[in-house]
Amino acid sequence: MRKVITYGTYDLFHQGHYNLLKRAKALGDYLIVGVTTDNFDLERGKMSTCNNVMERIDAVKATGLADQIIIEEYKGQKIDDIQKYGVDVFAIGSDWVGYFDYLKEYCEVVYLPRTEGISSTMLRQERPTVRIGVIGTGSIASRFVPESKCVNSVEVVAAFNTNLQECKAFCDKFAIECADTLETLFEKVDSIYVASPHYTHYDYVKKALLAGKNVLCESPFVFRKEHAEELYGLAEAKGLVLMVALKTAFCPAFCHLVSLLKSGVIGDIVEVNASVTTLTDETSEKMDSKRYGGSMSENACFPLVPIFKLLGTDYKNINFYSKMKNDVDLYTKAVFRYDSAVASFQVGLGVKTEGNMVVSGTKGYAYVPAPWWKTDYFEIRFEDQNKNKKYFYPFAGEGLRYEIKDFVSGILSKDYFFSKVSKKENLAMAEVQEKYIGNKNLFRL
Ligand code: CTP
Repeated sequence: MRKVITYGTYDLFHQGHYNLLKRAKALGDYLIVGVTTDNFDLERGKMSTCNNVMERIDAVKATGLADQIIIEEYKGQKIDDIQKYGVDVFAIGSDWVGYFDYLKEYCEVVYLPRTEGISSTMLRQERPTVRIGVIGTGSIASRFVPESKCVNSVEVVAAFNTNLQECKAFCDKFAIECADTLETLFEKVDSIYVASPHYTHYDYVKKALLAGKNVLCESPFVFRKEHAEELYGLAEAKGLVLMVALKTAFCPAFCHLVSLLKSGVIGDIVEVNASVTTLTDETSEKMDSKRYGGSMSENACFPLVPIFKLLGTDYKNINFYSKMKNDVDLYTKAVFRYDSAVASFQVGLGVKTEGNMVVSGTKGYAYVPAPWWKTDYFEIRFEDQNKNKKYFYPFAGEGLRYEIKDFVSGILSKDYFFSKVSKKENLAMAEVQEKYIGNKNLFRL
């Protein structure tokens, strides 16, 4: 049997892909098709793919031409695959002529004619564009607009802020429209990014959903579980995408860390500990007790992600220990008890500490250096140091482009949409904030 292998991204599957697969199949009796994973594409700097790996695999499968589909996830994998699967021919489109000659040492290399006049890039340019309106024009919104330019099929077109002067300055800076009312903003866009102060999130998200807009809301999402439930219910009833923006959860290093740990590389997870402290001026709105200011509301959403992802949301209890000043927590340590594990985090606006994360297991531990919430690197460490492994990933720009890409994909291909922070996790986060605000097991220092 003559085995042929070919690789591609196969984004927005088109006639050129089909022709290539057909030609490749004709070179032998058995065709293996390698489809790139989303992370591998991100690593290669391909931020623009519209379909996720499951959609792209399905498209290849639907041709009926592939006898076997494999995923391509690392550089250098082609040599391994050719040897592992006993491949006779490596085939690829003529746009790659010469590039894969190094594989001739392992099998025959054939460059097949490329279909003229069509490519995924062309099709991506023809796709509808998600038009985003921004509510709130502070520092995170100022990072969001440039980051959105790195993502395909999305455009930030307008902004709204109750302070019209600030709104105008923001819009001038980014050459977008300034909406003087919320209604005007809604008329101009199909999706909303809520980047206003935390205490206004519930209200704005609700209004946006009622107006039929998809919503990406900054963290912390809301401060009551019942509010989170209501907003998700509203989005589901209207068939809209509601996503919470939490850059850490969408970044390649963090995503891979979670799947590695879930697969048992450090044994059973017994403790998760993470800190986020960002010294802040006491006059800042972030320190205003009347507006949900304080360390818990500002920073707790970050460590809650690894805790819930690694240990689940069914903890038995939480205790909070807070160093207070002017009714605001300058620093809070929270301790979660699970059936067979413990988790804790430290967050601070008025106290500084090391911002790393350590996940301890029965066979080893994961160490993510500060600032772990925007890391591109982590280590898995064992008793026998020779077994330690370091992992490196891209963390492009401000890191917001990953969540924007997921939001846009969710809107454009709802069939496969899943948010990297689930509804269950977001409800649990709102509940933690609610417990804290309700002084449940809160010990003030
Ligand atoms: N291909 C082809 N004819 C086209 C487009 C792609 O034969 N018009 C081939 C490529 O040469 C490759 C395979 O299809 O062997 C998968 O290519 P991929 O990079 O996934 O598709 P493109 O449309 O080239 O994507 P992009 O525009 O993102 O580069």
